[in-house]
Amino acid sequence: MTSTGFSRRRLLQLTGASTLGALAGCAGQLPGTGDEGGREVTPRSTVTSEPDSSVSLTAGSGTIRPAPETSTTNWMYEGQFPGPELRVQEGDVLSVELTNDLQEETTVHWHGVPVPNPVDGVPNVTQDPIAPGETFTYTFRAEPAGTYFYHSHVGLQLDRGLLGPLIVEEREPHVEYDREYVVVVDDYLPGEPELPSGGGRGGGGGMMGDVRPPYEGLLLNGWLPADPPTFGVAEGERVRLRFVNAGSATVFGVRIAGHEMTVTHADGRPVEPVDVDSFVFGAGERYDVVIETTNPGTWAVQADALDGNEPPARAVVEYESAGGGSPQRPSSASNRLQYGDLRAISSLDGVSGDPDRTFDLTLSRGRGQSYTWTIDGQAYPDADPLQVRPDEHVRIRMTNQSPVVHPMHLHGHFFQVGNAIKDTVIVPGHRGQVTIDFHADNPGRWLFHCHNLYHLDAGMARVVKYVE
Ligand code: C2O
Ligand code: CU
Repeated sequence: MTSTGFSRRRLLQLTGASTLGALAGCAGQLPGTGDEGGREVTPRSTVTSEPDSSVSLTAGSGTIRPAPETSTTNWMYEGQFPGPELRVQEGDVLSVELTNDLQEETTVHWHGVPVPNPVDGVPNVTQDPIAPGETFTYTFRAEPAGTYFYHSHVGLQLDRGLLGPLIVEEREPHVEYDREYVVVVDDYLPGEPELPSGGGRGGGGGMMGDVRPPYEGLLLNGWLPADPPTFGVAEGERVRLRFVNAGSATVFGVRIAGHEMTVTHADGRPVEPVDVDSFVFGAGERYDVVIETTNPGTWAVQADALDGNEPPARAVVEYESAGGGSPQRPSSASNRLQYGDLRAISSLDGVSGDPDRTFDLTLSRGRGQSYTWTIDGQAYPDADPLQVRPDEHVRIRMTNQSPVVHPMHLHGHFFQVGNAIKDTVIVPGHRGQVTIDFHADNPGRWLFHCHNLYHLDAGMARVVKYVE
């Protein structure tokens, strides 16, 4: 709201002088859609105050050992995989200086955090990619609180290991807990990711199906199931687990043996606590759960690939009193979380009543010989922006005309889906339909895309662009 006012004022100043040419040139690129003025709205400016927390991250290559006999060269931040946990208090100003030690360009995106547009980390949309040897500083106010992650937004670099968790602690959590663990699940691809070549006829799945990258396993906090990490607990605690699906092409189903999970947050946003035995999440989604440690022993946390057949990623919940032993496996999932179970604690402003603008979008596989995925028949970057005006209530209705799920993610905004507030939502295959509503309160150019990295790289993206 205030940012919109600011943007208008700033734009007026700009149009007065020599920048007019540049602006007009910019506007000229917009495909005219009749009622649109087409003049782009200036983004919220970036934070200039002293950071509360300053971090340096170097993107480079290094060796990971996800299991005792397994090592491979990966790309990573700060020589760690997953990258170092960034943890700040809600409202703190975080400044991250990224140094690019790779041989190719990179950027960092703060997945889920509604940052000002210039620090959103999308190459050629919000910034020039960071060249090898160069640095770029991202400064933003870390809010709202939540479980997020950061990752490269260039090509397929996320699936090469350029990811890490970002935790923004709430000042007053709506749930109590005694300790917490961050749980990053991921699909493990040694070596260089590649787009599947050619159309869908070969390689399984048929014309409309998909080809799974040649994953060699599933990771939990960087470990293969042969060498699972241990989460120590004591009896009588409430333990918060922050699950992040940092996979590039995997929908995970999560269960914990011997314990019910109380889901407390979806994509970082607080929900009314709901008890489940399992939940499913797509690439880019996060869930926080609390378990009560009332069942001493050694228990497996298990994350299965719904669309792959690698052995499940695992961790072990071990009570102090248990003294080792092999963990018990979870029983088959019965009470699984549904989106309809999620009720956000506080509602999203600006999305009540009828929308000011609605987009009906079809998600499908491209028809040509090449491997492409499209939104309304267009493959990004050869795709029209979705133009919105500041302060609008925008609705996007998606229909999935393919047999595979698409976890769709909107940058820069949370959206309402049912009674939940999220930033990433699975659209089921076989004509699955999902409707999201958001408030256009963060001017700029924002990517809206499938978080299956291969689908994104093959075109399943659009830019949401603010125009006057
Ligand atoms: Cu996790 Cu476009 O981002
Ligand atoms: Cu997809």
